[in-house]
Amino acid sequence: MNVIFMGPPGAGKGTQAERVVNEFKIPHISTGDAFRAAMKQETPLGVEAKKYVDQGLLVPDEITIGIVRERLQLADCNSGFLLDGFPRTIFQAEALDEILHSMDKKIDYVVNLVVDRNLLLARLTGRRICKSCGATYHVLFNPPAKENVCDKCSGELYQRSDDTEEKVGTRLDEYISKTAPLLDYYDKKNTLRQVNGEQDIDTVTAEISSLLRGQA
Ligand code: AP5
Ligand code: ZN
Repeated sequence: MNVIFMGPPGAGKGTQAERVVNEFKIPHISTGDAFRAAMKQETPLGVEAKKYVDQGLLVPDEITIGIVRERLQLADCNSGFLLDGFPRTIFQAEALDEILHSMDKKIDYVVNLVVDRNLLLARLTGRRICKSCGATYHVLFNPPAKENVCDKCSGELYQRSDDTEEKVGTRLDEYISKTAPLLDYYDKKNTLRQVNGEQDIDTVTAEISSLLRGQA
């Protein structure tokens, strides 16, 4: 099964992706995670990406598409994959269609998580992530048992540099102008499925899971 998770920053794509890939045993391909890993290691890709990510702007299409093209060629994608945060522009979506076509694959579902803008700001500014395993928490909505300590691996939690109020504003503007038009693109292909992302985390997971199992 080949799936795309769409939705504005903070809609819950990463949180749900973590759960869904466990259930369906498919790789989780997050362009945001790929950029953050490269930034941490200060590779040439990371140095370039940082210029954009730190400002809340989209990284140029040619860089982003190259990463996804390489990743999709790996053998673990043969039985399916979950793309999280890609594509984010019409140009990226068209490039993805070409890549998949050349591999004789197609997208089965595009799951769009729908969340109101006001709630997104609260979610992103309260988000905390584990330095060791990458698990995502929220200080109010999904707190760890012990403050700033990961439940899964006891790692330390940190706040993403682009989760400040100002950067979140820029990211939401980028989403509206460049990514939201993709909803129409996938609706026309009949692959788009809307999920109410304002429900609690478990309810959203259950809805996505039954949808992907073809029961919704
Ligand atoms: P990326 O890492 O993809 O960030 P994003 O799309 O802004 O999405 P987020 O990770 O912020 O949110 P999410 O939807 O995953 O929410 P989460 O589950 O964490 O991209 C970062 C940057 O990289 C971009 O700005 C850009 O610069 C660059 N980039 C990446 N891809 C690119 C591309 N294709 N092209 C160009 N540039 C690209 O949840 C958020 C919070 O809410 C958490 O604290 C969570 O615990 C909480 N939460 C989640 N669900 C619920 C719920 N149901 N109820 C209550 N709380 C919840
Ligand atoms: Zn952890």
